[in-house]
Amino acid sequence: MELCRTTAAFSWAHSISPSLHFPQRFSMCESKGLRVCCAVNASASGQSQKENQMIVSVTGATGFIGRRLVQRLLADNHRVHVLTRSRSKAQFIFPAKDFRGIVIAEEPEWKDCIQGSNAVVNLAGMPISTRWSPEIKKEIKESRVRITSKVVDIINNSQDEVRPTVLVSASAIGYYGASETLVFKEQSPSGNDYLAEVCREWEGKAFKVNKDVRLVLIRIGVVLGKDGGALAKMIPLFNLFAGGPLGSGKQWFSWIHLDDIVELIYEALSNPSYTGVINGTAPNPVRLAEMCDHLGNAMGRPSWLPVPDFALKAVLGEGASVVLDGQKVLPARAQQLGFTFKYPYVKDALRAILLGS
Ligand SMILES: NC(=O)c1ccc[n+]([C@@H]2O[C@H](COP(=O)([O-])OP(=O)(O)OC[C@H]3O[C@@H](n4cnc5c(N)ncnc54)[C@H](OP(=O)(O)O)[C@@H]3O)[C@@H](O)[C@H]2O)c1
Repeated sequence: MELCRTTAAFSWAHSISPSLHFPQRFSMCESKGLRVCCAVNASASGQSQKENQMIVSVTGATGFIGRRLVQRLLADNHRVHVLTRSRSKAQFIFPAKDFRGIVIAEEPEWKDCIQGSNAVVNLAGMPISTRWSPEIKKEIKESRVRITSKVVDIINNSQDEVRPTVLVSASAIGYYGASETLVFKEQSPSGNDYLAEVCREWEGKAFKVNKDVRLVLIRIGVVLGKDGGALAKMIPLFNLFAGGPLGSGKQWFSWIHLDDIVELIYEALSNPSYTGVINGTAPNPVRLAEMCDHLGNAMGRPSWLPVPDFALKAVLGEGASVVLDGQKVLPARAQQLGFTFKYPYVKDALRAILLGS
């Protein structure tokens, strides 16, 4: 997807649900150096196109998934509020000349941005694929719980006229715990390990949102994309070890292509049928050995030497468990809802990412 494709060739109007309420028209105003949303007279804009425009506040917009989501929203002429901890980081990622129509806000300004948005996407959290010291484990959980609580409190304390109608909040398939034998769907119980506990507490905060707000919780699988996520860390290892399975290779790898997770979030924003928990994984999870086979092929490095666990752990720390202790997760709800995966098979996803085909 090209950066800032604001003149999208395809129509966006039809994809926005009529049930999303647009209580007032909004325009951007400058105030104390911060651009904030201001209500304006509906007749003032006079452009019917704008009536279908969403204003979406996004936490974690500067991250791997968030960056692509921002591009996707702008491509369809929606407006985006980037809720960040660091304005300078966000300005670097979204330079004003390429990203017209976004507002960048640091935490004290989040309230002004969320109130008046139609929707909020909550993606923020300290990266999981790192070394896990006790302090880092605490921050992995607390960052998610804190930011989700903050977003939910702002939504819940909003007047009806300015309250967003949709909250799409991230969670992870770590919710289910690890297993080589079980198959997990949305109604499956949670696991017993550390990541399951993180996900339960994280989701618990999102569930506190006002009942008039449509909540969609997306339990995201391992996202595959070119410039980040697990793949960016696995590729150098593959180069080093000439490819091959990671660890035993029997672990399940429930993955999703970056384009598909972004599309699922977009659909969750605009389609009122999307409610509650939805697994954000491709319909065909694979065992890790198969994933590595395809990765080796796509990289032109047939896999014949196993990449040892210790090598992956050296790169990812205990966060390697996201890849090494997998689970088989199926996107039952997304399929029920008729979501079409652009990349249902990992072979095609990897070829698209690595070879652009
Ligand atoms: N990528 C995956 O494979 C995957 C899989 C399952 C679940 N998820 C979940 O989906 C969400 C988005 O994933 P992602 O890969 O895009 O994440 P990411 O690239 O790590 O970005 C997350 C964003 O969270 C913010 N953040 C980082 N550390 C933080 C902290 N200590 N406190 C508060 N905010 C912090 C940062 O935004 P600012 O610096 O702008 O504030 C960062 O850009 C995450 O919550 C992640 O756990 C991702």
